[in-house]
Amino acid sequence: MSIQFGPEYVRAIAPYQGGKPISEVAREFGLDEANIIKLASNENPLGMPESARQAMAAAIAEAGRYPDGNGFELKAAITAKYGVPAERITLGNGSNDILELAAHAFVQPGQSVVYAQYSFAIYALATQAVGGRSLVVDAKNYGHDLDAMAAAIVDDTRLIFIANPNNPTGTFIPGAQIEAFLKRVPSNVVVVLDEAYTEFLPADLQYDSIAWVDRYPNLLVSRSMSKVYGLAGLRIGYGIAQAGITDLLNRIRQPFNVNSLAQAAAIAALRDDAFVQRSAKLNADGYRQLTAAFDAMGLEYVPSLGNFVMIKVGDDLGAGARINLALLKQGVIVRPVGNYGLPQWLRISIGLPKENELFVDALKKALA
Ligand SMILES: Cc1ncc(COP(=O)(O)O)c(C=O)c1O
Repeated sequence: MSIQFGPEYVRAIAPYQGGKPISEVAREFGLDEANIIKLASNENPLGMPESARQAMAAAIAEAGRYPDGNGFELKAAITAKYGVPAERITLGNGSNDILELAAHAFVQPGQSVVYAQYSFAIYALATQAVGGRSLVVDAKNYGHDLDAMAAAIVDDTRLIFIANPNNPTGTFIPGAQIEAFLKRVPSNVVVVLDEAYTEFLPADLQYDSIAWVDRYPNLLVSRSMSKVYGLAGLRIGYGIAQAGITDLLNRIRQPFNVNSLAQAAAIAALRDDAFVQRSAKLNADGYRQLTAAFDAMGLEYVPSLGNFVMIKVGDDLGAGARINLALLKQGVIVRPVGNYGLPQWLRISIGLPKENELFVDALKKALA
């Protein structure tokens, strides 16, 4: 009998399924990389901002040294932008790091974590990695049902994950409802408000979660530099919470969890409002382009406030996998979401206008 390593809860983890890399699809389907379109990982189709590229290039000279483990300058840039003091900021190797740090810091084996059905896959993974018990609350119209989530909290609940907007469904909860929820959560339960896509929200839906941090010592707001800021490959995100939470997260993170090139790029990107505005507009236009095509084709989709949209490609349980394969053969990479319990759906990241157009053409062929 072979030896089994590690605790049962670690062995039970199903690995995260990311978007297929372009090179892999080229190899698998005998395609030219240059002709492949990837709309699978909610990246910024503009790539990284030029300002960040230049900052990174300048920082390379110092890459032989360890990065600033406290991220002094990057925290100063976050302070300048949002008015939040450095002692409330935790830097992460992607915001994924912040989500995992929260599970490690606040959940012991057997204790429970509340999150919604169809919410971001890392909530389940982070919970399982620490032996936590997942209390998965049924979604309402593919989004979070905050009343049911409040009702799901039990004595041993230590953490709640909320994604707003949510991935992969794109659903959104108005700020006032989130704040009403925060008021109902017991103060010993940490609420992670994961706002990876918040910069894409239209002005009338934006809300000030950073101001809530003053009022709720159990709130941890998580932000990503991978989406609107176009730095996905550098792995950088940050958390904002009162010192009580922030101090613990900073004790358990790796001392140099954010590399120096990522820090330099993030400082430049945070100051680059023009790039953010351009990216958000491109996304809003692309969303209209795609959903107009879906409407014309009579395809069901979930209205989304992220940089992606989920469409239903058939009624049978094999539909998502089948249409995904038919798209891959045409060199179009999107994201099947069968692993989320949505086997009839695909998630499409919004691309450049031409990419969106080529995707719609390929989709028509795949569905024919
Ligand atoms: C809701 C949500 N949160 C967090 C992340 C993690 O992003 P990153 O680690 O690149 O900041 C993602 C990435 O897709 C996401 O969709």
